[in-house]
Amino acid sequence: MADKNKVTIFDTTLRDGEQSPGMSMNLKEKIEMAKQLERMGVDVIEAGFAISSPGDFQSVQTIADTVKDCTVCSLARASKEDIDTAWEAVRGAASPRLHIFLATSELHMKYKLLMTKKQVFDTAVAMTKYARKYCPDVQFSAEDATRSDMDFLEKVIRGVVKAGATTINLPDTVGYAVPEEHRAFFKEIRRRVPELTDVTLSCHCHNDLGLGVANSLEAVCGGARQIECTVNGIGERAGNAAMEEIIMALYVRGNIYDVTTNIKTTEITRSSSLLTNITGVKVQPNKAVVGENAFAHEAGIHQHGVLAKAETYEIMTPASVGLKVSNLVLGKHSGKHAFRDRLTALGYSLSEKELASAFTSFKELADRKKSVYDKDIEALIAKEAVQVPKTFTLDTFVINSGNTITATATISLNRDGKQIEKVARGSGPIDAAFKSIDKIVGRQLKLDDYQIDAVSEGEDALGDARVVLSNENGGKYSGRGLSTDVIEASIKAYVNAINKMYYEEKKEKEEREERVE
Ligand code: KIV
Ligand code: ZN
Repeated sequence: MADKNKVTIFDTTLRDGEQSPGMSMNLKEKIEMAKQLERMGVDVIEAGFAISSPGDFQSVQTIADTVKDCTVCSLARASKEDIDTAWEAVRGAASPRLHIFLATSELHMKYKLLMTKKQVFDTAVAMTKYARKYCPDVQFSAEDATRSDMDFLEKVIRGVVKAGATTINLPDTVGYAVPEEHRAFFKEIRRRVPELTDVTLSCHCHNDLGLGVANSLEAVCGGARQIECTVNGIGERAGNAAMEEIIMALYVRGNIYDVTTNIKTTEITRSSSLLTNITGVKVQPNKAVVGENAFAHEAGIHQHGVLAKAETYEIMTPASVGLKVSNLVLGKHSGKHAFRDRLTALGYSLSEKELASAFTSFKELADRKKSVYDKDIEALIAKEAVQVPKTFTLDTFVINSGNTITATATISLNRDGKQIEKVARGSGPIDAAFKSIDKIVGRQLKLDDYQIDAVSEGEDALGDARVVLSNENGGKYSGRGLSTDVIEASIKAYVNAINKMYYEEKKEKEEREERVE
C-alpha cells in the first residue's frame, strides 16, 4: 500500500525552468542536470516538452534512456500529435510518464483556447484515455486551476480520473493564490472528489507574489502528495516554487508537516551550484538555503552565539544541505592521487578520461594559484562536465588598455590547426577582445550578458567569467571561463559560448537533414 505521508517530488527545472529567459541549456548540460537530480533523489524528472522542438525531443529521449532511478516525463498539450511525440520520447524510460495539460479557467478557455466548457471537458477526457493506451502513468494538469470555476474543475477532475489519469495536478499558473486559500482549495477538491484517494494530487506553484513555496507547503497540508518545483526556483516570470526551500521546510519543520520525501538534502548545494554553473545565472546572496550568505554570520553577537552553540542562530546545519566547509587545500605539488581523493570527498566519481582532463585543468590552475580550494575544484569540474567539442581554442592574446588610450586587442584563435589572428579596438579591454573574436569568427554576435566573479578568496583568486551571447537568429548561448587573469577568463568564456553555438548549430543542421531523408 502506498505510504500516505510520502510526498513525490516532481522536478520541472528542465521544462518549466528551462523555458524561462536566460536558462536554456544544451543537451549535454541537460543530461548532467538530470543525472544530478537523480543523485539527489527526485521522484519525477520532467525532461522537456517533446513536441516543442527537435532539440527538446532529443533531450527528453536521451534523459529517458540515461536516468534509471526516476520517472521521466514529457509535457504534451491535449492533442494526439503532442501525445504521440511525447510517448515516442519517453517510451525508453525505466518508468515513463505522460503529462497532458489543458486550461480550465474561463479566461484561458475563452481567450486562449477559444473552446467551450464542453469542448474542454471532452478533449481532456478523450486525450487522457488516448494517453493511457500508451502509458500506465498519466498526469493531467488543469492549467490555471486556481482561477477556475470549482464546479467545472471538479467535473474535469472526475472525468479525467475515470479516463485513467493517475496524477491530477492543479497549477497556480500565474502565482495568484495566497497560502490560506491554497490549502482550502486543495481540501475542497479532496472533499468534492473522493475518488482521488487512489490518485496522486499535485500542486504546481508559480512565484509571482513570492508565495510559491508557502503555497506548495499549504497544498501539502490540504492533501497534495506531489509537489512540482525547480532547483533555485527558476521558471516562467518570477519563477516556480524553489525545491531547496520546500525540501528544507519539510525537513526542518517536520513537526508541522509530518511527511517524507526521497530527497537527499546533502545534494542540494551541489544541484544548485551545477545549475548556476550551467546557466551562468547566480542566485541572490541572501537566497534561502543556497544563497552565498545563507549560513554566514556577520554580526559579532551572532558569531559568538553560533560558536557557543550553533542552534542559537542556525536552524539547519550547512552540512545538512551539503555545504562543505573544508580547510584542505591543494597546490602545485599535489599529485593525481590527492586530486582524486579530494574529488571523492567532494562526492564526484569521474571516469579515467574525465579525471585525466580535470587533472590537466587543475595543474594549469595550480601553476598560477598558490592554494586551490574546494570551490575552485568544483568550478573546474562543473566546467569540464558540460564541455562541448572545441571549434575554436585560444592561442594568444595581447591587450593594450589605459585611461589615455583606446583599448586594442590582438587575439589569435586556433581553428582546426589553423591560427587566425585579428586586431580590434573597443571601449575597454573586454569590448576590444570580444570584437576581435567576432572578427575571427566572422559572425554578427550580440553580447547579452557578461559577469565576472571570484570563485574563492585571496589575491590570486580564480576569476569566473560568464557570458551570454545571441547569434543572428536570436539563439542564445552561454559560456564560462576560468582563469586567475580576468581578461583571459572573459576571453575563454566568450570562446566557450561560441563553441556551444557551433555545436548546437551543427546538431540542428544534422536533425534537419535527418528529417528531410
Ligand atoms: O504553470 C502551469 O500551469 C504549467 C502547466 C503546463 C503544468 O506549467
Ligand atoms: Zn508552470
